[in-house]
Amino acid sequence: MPILEKAPQKTEAKATSTEEDHGLPKLPVPPLQQTLATYLRCMRHLIPEEQFRKSQAIVQRFGASGGLGETLQQKLLERQEKTVNWVSEYWLNDMYLNNRLALPVNSSPAIIFARQHFQDTNDQLRFAANLISGVLSYKALLDSHSIPTDCAKGQLSGQPLCMKQYYGLFSSYRLPGHTQDTLVAQKSSVMPEPEHIIVACCNQFFVLDVVINFRRLSEGDLFTQLRKIVKMASNEDERLPPIGLLTSDGRSEWAEARTVLMKDSTNRDSLDMIERCICLVCLDAPGGMELSQTNRALQLLHGGGCSKNGANRWYDKSLQFVVGRDGTCGVICEHSPFDGIVLVQCTEHLLKHMTKSSKKLVRADSVSELPAPRRLRWKCSPEIQGLLASSAEKLQCIVKNLDFIVYKFDSYGKTFIKKQKCSPDAFIQVALQLTFYRLHRRLVPTYESASIRRFQEGRVDNIRSATPEALSFVKAVTDHKASVPDAEKLLLLRNAIRAQTEYTVMAITGMAIDNHLLGLRELAREVCKEPPEMFTDETYLMSNQFILSTSQVPTTMDMFCCYGPVVPNGYGTCYNPQAESILFCISSFHGCRETSSTKFSEGVEASLLEMRDLCNLSLEAPGKPPATKEKAARLSQDHQS
Ligand code: COA
Repeated sequence: MPILEKAPQKTEAKATSTEEDHGLPKLPVPPLQQTLATYLRCMRHLIPEEQFRKSQAIVQRFGASGGLGETLQQKLLERQEKTVNWVSEYWLNDMYLNNRLALPVNSSPAIIFARQHFQDTNDQLRFAANLISGVLSYKALLDSHSIPTDCAKGQLSGQPLCMKQYYGLFSSYRLPGHTQDTLVAQKSSVMPEPEHIIVACCNQFFVLDVVINFRRLSEGDLFTQLRKIVKMASNEDERLPPIGLLTSDGRSEWAEARTVLMKDSTNRDSLDMIERCICLVCLDAPGGMELSQTNRALQLLHGGGCSKNGANRWYDKSLQFVVGRDGTCGVICEHSPFDGIVLVQCTEHLLKHMTKSSKKLVRADSVSELPAPRRLRWKCSPEIQGLLASSAEKLQCIVKNLDFIVYKFDSYGKTFIKKQKCSPDAFIQVALQLTFYRLHRRLVPTYESASIRRFQEGRVDNIRSATPEALSFVKAVTDHKASVPDAEKLLLLRNAIRAQTEYTVMAITGMAIDNHLLGLRELAREVCKEPPEMFTDETYLMSNQFILSTSQVPTTMDMFCCYGPVVPNGYGTCYNPQAESILFCISSFHGCRETSSTKFSEGVEASLLEMRDLCNLSLEAPGKPPATKEKAARLSQDHQS
C-alpha cells in the first residue's frame, strides 16, 4: 500500500486563516491516481470479485487521461489555492451538519469522570461550583490566547498542531435546520463575550450570570447561586415542560419544533439565552442504577430517557457538564466544532484546576446580595406538547436500542506492545479486525480517526484499518483447518501491523483517501448535471458505511471517552490505551441481531491474548499450545452457533 456567529451576536463560522494556524502548511491534495489505486486496494478484499471488476472499470473511466477525475482534481487544486483548508466545509457538512439523526448516541460523544462521592446536595453543588470556576479560568486563558500550542505525539511526533478547535469549545452552537444544521460561533469582536451559563435542574433551565457588576463570581458565589437554583427547581408548582427533550430528536424534527417555538416572544428570548451561553451545567438527579462505568457512561450518552435525566439536557450546545447527585459526572459534547483530543485536553485542564482548588471548603453566603438566577420561561402550545411527547418516545427508543459496555483489558497495555517494537495503536486496530472477523467471518469498511491538525484548520481523516494484510492475518489465525504454523501467523501479524502503521502515517500527513474522494464528489455537484457513476457505484456507497467506527482517545487522568455506532448494524469502539491496560467502550444496537457489544468485548480479550501469545512465541516451551488459543476458538464457535 502506498504510504501514503447568529444575529447580532452570531455570525456563521467562516474558513479564514487565524493566528492559531500561523506557520502551519495547508492540507495537501493527494495525487489522483494514488487515491484511486488506494481506494481499489482498500475495497477489493471486502467485496465479491464480480463487483470489484465492475467498480474497477468505473474507477478507470473516472481516472482516465482527460476524464472527469482530472477535471475535478484540477478544480480541487484551485480550491486548495483559494481556501485555508479545501476540505473543511465539505467535511463539516458531510460528517455532521447534513446528518439528520438525533445527537444523543448517534453523534455526541461523552467523557466520563471518575465516580464522585457526594454526601449531600451541597457536596454536589460545591463540585459544580468548582467546575464552573475552572471553566471560567480556562475560558480566560483562551480569550487571552494563552493556551500553549499542542505538539504531535506518537507517530511523527513534535510537529506543532492547529489550535483553532480550542476556540470553538465555549463559543459554538449547532443550530438545527430543516435539511442542514448551521454551526454558529460567537464573535467576541462584534459583541461582548457571553457572561452566563445555563444550569439544567429538574428539566428546568436557569440563567446563571457569572459576571456581575464587572466582577467574575467567586467559587463561593457560584455555590450560593447554585443553591438558589436547586431551591427554585424543587418548587413543583413552578415547573415548566421539559423543552430540552426537543433537542434530543432528529435534527429536522427539532428544526420544525424550533420554528413553532419561535412564534412566541417568550420562547424566542429563552432560546436566545441558551444559544449564547458559555456552556451548560446539568445537575442530574440520581440515575437509580448501580454506578458501574457502563451505567455512568449511559447517563452521559442518553441520560436514561425522559423518566431519568434525558430531558435535563440541551444537545445543541457544544459542552454540557453533567454533575449528578449520585456522583456520575462528565461532559457531553456536540461534536461538530471540535474533536475528542481537544475535548480531553480541555477536560484534563479543568480537572487539574479542580484538584488544586478543592482543598478549601466553599461556604454559601447566607446574606448574598447577588440577584437570583432566572428561570427560563416557555409558552407551550398544544402543538409543542405533542412534539414533546413524540421526542420523549424517540429518546426512549434510543435508550432501549443502545447495547453498550465498558471493558477494561488489564493483561497488558502499551508497555508490552512497545517492547515488541510495534505501534500500540496499530496493534489494537489489528486486534479489532481479528475480533470482528472472529464474530462475523468477514472484514468491513472500518473508520479510524486520524488527526490532520498538522495542517491549517485540520480536523481528521480516516485510516481504513480493514487492510488486505489484516485479512491475511485474521484468516490465518481463525482457520483452524488450515493450521497455519504459529511462526507464519506471527509474520502475518507483523505485516498487518506494518500496513496499519503505514496507512496511519499516510493519513496524518494528509495523504489518505476519504477526504480526497469527498472533495472530488462535492466538486462534481458543481461540474456535472448527474452524480458521476464513481460516486453512485455500490462499492463507493458501501465504502462509506462504517460498520466498525473506531477511535483512540487517550487520557492521562482517571476518565474515558465513549460514543455510539454510526450505522444501525455497526459497532462504535473507542479505546484508551494505558501503560498496563486498555479501556474499550463498545457500542452497538440491540435492533441488529448480528451485533453484540458483550460478545465483541469478549472477542477483544481473546484477540489481544492470542496476539500476545504469538508475540511471546520465542519464549514459549516448544510444542506447548498457548492457553488462549483454545479459548479464542471456542468463542468464535459459540458466536456462530
Ligand atoms: N516501537 C516502539 N514504540 C512505538 C512504535 C514502535 N514501532 N511505534 C509507536 N511507538 C510509540 C510511540 O512513540 C508513542 O510513544 P509515547 O507513548 O511515548 O508517546 C506510542 O508508542 C504511541 O504511538 P502509536 O500507538 O503508534 O499511536 P499514536 O500516538 O501515533 O496515535 C493515532 C496514532 C492515529 C491514534 C494518532 O495519530 C491520531 O491521529 N490521534 C487522533 C485520534 C483522534 O482524533 N481521536 C478523536 C476523534 S474524535
